[in-house]
Amino acid sequence: MVIYRRIRLVLHVCAWIPLAVLAFDAATANLTINPIQAAEQRTGDTAITFLILSLACTPLHLVYGAPWLMKLSRPLGLYAFLYAAVHVSIFIGIDYGFDFTLLLQELAQKPYIIVGATCLLILSALALTSFDRAKLILRKRWKQLHRLVYLAGLLAVLHFGWASKGNLFSFSGDIFRPLLAGALVLTLLIIRLPPVRRWLIQRR
Ligand code: HEM
Repeated sequence: MVIYRRIRLVLHVCAWIPLAVLAFDAATANLTINPIQAAEQRTGDTAITFLILSLACTPLHLVYGAPWLMKLSRPLGLYAFLYAAVHVSIFIGIDYGFDFTLLLQELAQKPYIIVGATCLLILSALALTSFDRAKLILRKRWKQLHRLVYLAGLLAVLHFGWASKGNLFSFSGDIFRPLLAGALVLTLLIIRLPPVRRWLIQRR
């Protein structure tokens, strides 16, 4: 399928741009006054963006009936995992210098980190079983396991909202981006509900 191959190529090229720009900005000391925080925020934002794009593949296929959209879900999900892994590596390695005692204290004080870690755990399991061989070995359980991607999406949004410097109750600070991410994930989840799904397929 020519269109799929072209879009996949564009995706693979574009997916490395945020990491390359981050490396360039870090090397040229262009990462704001708080470079570690900026690096954590950029990689976190990129991870959640890829996760939402991956979640959007099936709903978009339901609306437009283009099977190649489904095939993009795997590379998009793997890039979400890659950026989440870089995000966490910066947090553990650079921010906390692998000081696990300090990290445990942080875990107790900042529950949003536990939420992020649970999300990462799910993304890791999905990445490890994303290959065709794993599909053959796990069979029915593969589908059940990969449904957890929606839970990962919800956890990522919760982590995003909690980590952002905004207050939902007084509508102040950075609340727009986490709310937008939450609205997107919820919409994509609703589209997957059987009655909505059937309605979309009939309309196609
Ligand atoms: C063990 C796992 C994780 C840890 C320790 C962690 C840590 C952090 C920290 C410390 C921040 C706050 C940065 C700051 O503003 O000072 C943050 C923000 C964020 N994280 Fe994570 N995170 C984890 C997993 C994830 C995962 C799996 C995702 C997405 C798939 C993610 C997405 C984000 C996003 C979107 C933000 C907000 C960035 C912004 O303010 O623009 N994180 N994370």
